[in-house]
Amino acid sequence: MEYVARQFNIPQLAGLSQKQMEVHLGLYQGYVKHVNLIRSQITELKESETDTYVISELRRRFSFEFDGMRMHEYYFEQFESGAQSHADDSALTTAAIEKYGSWDAFIEHVKEVAGTRGIGWVIVYYDPAGRTLHTVFVGDHELGQLAGLPIILAVDLWEHAYMVDYLPAEKMSYVDAFLNNVNWSVVERRMLEEVV
Ligand SMILES: [Fe+2]
Repeated sequence: MEYVARQFNIPQLAGLSQKQMEVHLGLYQGYVKHVNLIRSQITELKESETDTYVISELRRRFSFEFDGMRMHEYYFEQFESGAQSHADDSALTTAAIEKYGSWDAFIEHVKEVAGTRGIGWVIVYYDPAGRTLHTVFVGDHELGQLAGLPIILAVDLWEHAYMVDYLPAEKMSYVDAFLNNVNWSVVERRMLEEVV
């Protein structure tokens, strides 16, 4: 099989231009291409039984390309059908209040973690075993992911996510714009799939 780049139904966003989204979607498509490429290269090299070091390096790079693809799918999905606020009685809201004290405190915490220096992601996971949320900074796309935990919210903090519209020093303005455009029903649906 080959992976195929997904299409996303993203309306005009406030504070994030169409050009910004086009550039970013193009980059996502590059990850899909490279996931397929790296898989076929490993297969070809295995068949020719040539350079073990080349195969080893390709294997090490696979998680970068794969997570680059998958994380962007989480990201763009969150804009689909336009901004929608969270429901006061959703499982997500309940878990956020339980962990952080209030919805606003949860959002403030996401922003605080987003202020971490370096490129990567803020990821909010739900841990079904602990019945709690974890808000984590992940470097690149793959460094520091929590094993097996479902991803509830994904905030892209690579500079390519905002530098069409914002300067590097304006990263937090981008984070505000991102949060203002989230369709929280998408995030709530991900959460519901995990809460039994
Ligand atoms: Fe990105």
